[in-house]
Amino acid sequence: MSLEQEINKRRTFAIISHPDAGKTTLTEKLLLFGGAIRTAGAVKSNKIKKTTTSDFMEIEKQRGISVATSVMGFEYRDKKINILDTPGHKDFAEDTFRTLTAADSVIVVIDVAKGVEQQTERLVEVCKMRNIPIIVFINKLDREGKEPIELLDEVEQKLKINVTPQSWPIGMGKTLKGVYSIYEQNLNLFSAHSKGEENLVSITDFNDPKLDETVGKLEADHFREETELISEIYPEFDEELYLAGELSPVFFGSAVNNFGVRELLDCFINIAPSPTATGTEEREISPYEDKFTGFVFKIHANLDPKHRSRIAFVKVCSGVFRRNTAYKHTRINKNLKFSTPTAFMASKKEIVEETYPGDIVGLVDSGNFKIGDTMTEGENLHFNGIPTFAPEQFRYVDNSDPLKYKQFQKGLEQLVDEGVAQLFTHTINNRKVIGTVGSLQFDVIQHRLLHEYNASCTYQPFAMHKACWVKTENEEQLEMLKEKKYKNMATDKKGQFVFLADTAWALNTVKENYPDIEFMDQSEF
Ligand code: G4P
Repeated sequence: MSLEQEINKRRTFAIISHPDAGKTTLTEKLLLFGGAIRTAGAVKSNKIKKTTTSDFMEIEKQRGISVATSVMGFEYRDKKINILDTPGHKDFAEDTFRTLTAADSVIVVIDVAKGVEQQTERLVEVCKMRNIPIIVFINKLDREGKEPIELLDEVEQKLKINVTPQSWPIGMGKTLKGVYSIYEQNLNLFSAHSKGEENLVSITDFNDPKLDETVGKLEADHFREETELISEIYPEFDEELYLAGELSPVFFGSAVNNFGVRELLDCFINIAPSPTATGTEEREISPYEDKFTGFVFKIHANLDPKHRSRIAFVKVCSGVFRRNTAYKHTRINKNLKFSTPTAFMASKKEIVEETYPGDIVGLVDSGNFKIGDTMTEGENLHFNGIPTFAPEQFRYVDNSDPLKYKQFQKGLEQLVDEGVAQLFTHTINNRKVIGTVGSLQFDVIQHRLLHEYNASCTYQPFAMHKACWVKTENEEQLEMLKEKKYKNMATDKKGQFVFLADTAWALNTVKENYPDIEFMDQSEF
C-alpha cells in the first residue's frame, strides 16, 4: 500500500465527555465492532474518575492500566481507527487538552438527561481553538431525558457550535421505539441489549404507512412533526463545513445497549478526516510529505519500579517512522534511535517496524523528552500548539530531605515535563510553587517523587486565585507591574513572567490598571 493510501485509511480521534456520560461504554462498543475486543468490560480505563483523593493507591493501580489503553487502534471495514483515550477525572483535564492536539477529530458524548455539562464545555472550547471537526453523540436514550429539540438548542448555545441532526429518536426512555437515521434513511428499531444485531426498516418517505405500522400512529405523527420542524431549523449536512469544524452532525443512541452506535461509526469512517496538516513554528507539515516528522503529546511513567523509563507518545505527522532509524530530536539537537517502538492495537502493545501518519508510536524514554518535542529526519522544526492552562490551585513545595536534593530537583523537573503540574518560581523569595488544575496532582507528585525518584517533599499552603501569563510590548508597563506587584510576580519553567492573582477582583484591577498588558489564561507547553 502506498503512503498516500495508508494515510487516507487512518482516522485518529478522541472521545470526550463529562464523566459518566458514557465515553468508556461507547469506546468499548466501537472496539467490539472493530473486533478488537471480544467481550464487554474489557476497557477499564477512565475509571479513575470514580475515585476520590483518598483513593490514591487505587488511582496508581489504574494508571498502570491506562498506559495500555492510552491509544486503541483497530481496523473497521477498510479503515484503521485510532481512538485516543482521555482521562475522565476533571483533575486530569490538562492531559485531555494535550491529547486533543493529536486528534484529527472528536466525538462528544452527551447524556440525554444531563445535557451539556461543564467539562464538555471546556473540552469543546479547546477543540474549537484548533477547528477540530466534531460529531455529537447523545447517549442514554433508553432513559427519560430532555426533549431532543431542546437538547440540540442547548448544545448550540452552550458549546457554541452549529449542529445538524443526522439521526432522530422516536420516543425515549420506556417508550423508545427506535432511531431514524437521516444519514442512511432507515429506521433502527430499539431492543435493549441487542449485541449489535439490528432491526432495520428502510423508510425513505415519512408518509409511508410502514412507519405507522412499525412504531404506532401517535409516535409516527409526532416524529413527522418533529422532523419537519428540524428540517426547517437545521441546515443539511455539509461535509466541508464539518471538516472546517463549523457544523457538527448529531446522532442519538444508547451505548450500553449498543444502539445507534453502528450508524455513528459508519458515518464517522465516511466523513471524519484522515490525518491533517500539523502546524510548527517554522511551517505547516503535510502528512503526505516523504520525510518523517512527529511530536510528543503525552508522556507516561512506566510504573514498574524495576524500569525507571517512561513512554513518550509520538503522533506521526508525516512520512514513515521506522524502527532503529536515527531521528533528530530538534529541541536538544540530538539524533536518537529506537529499538522498541510500540504500536497500540486495542489493549495490546506490540513492537512495530513502521508506523504511518495518524498513528501513535510509543517510545521508551530515559528522560530526553518533554511534551511538545518534535522529531524529524533532520529539518529544524518545532511543533507548537500544545496548550497549558492557568492553574487555579497552588502550594509551595519544599525538599524535605537535604541529602536527596538532587533527586528532588530531577524528579520535580521530569514530572513537570510530563505535564503532571506546572512549576513556578515566586520572585519575591525564589521559592518553588506548584500550580495545578485539580488537587489530585499534589498527591500524585508526592507519591511519585517518593516511589520513582526516592525523594520527598512537603507542601505549604499558598492561597492564590489564578496564575496568568503576562504578555506585552510595553516594557515600561511591565517594569511598573513588576515593581508595584512584586509580591505577586513569578516565572514559569521557561522564565516567562506570570502574575499570581490573589482574587478575581485583583486580577480585574490589574487588567484595568495595565491596559497594555495581556493577562493570559493559556500558554504553550
Ligand atoms: P464515562 O466513561 O463517560 O465516565 O462513562 P461510562 O461509560 O463509564 O458510563 C457511566 C455509566 O453510564 C455506567 O454505569 C454505564 O453503564 C452507563 N451507561 C453508558 N451508556 C448508557 C446508556 O446508553 N444507557 C444507560 N442507561 N446507561 C448507560 P455505571 O453503573 O456507573 O457503571 P457500570 O457498573 O454499568 O459499568
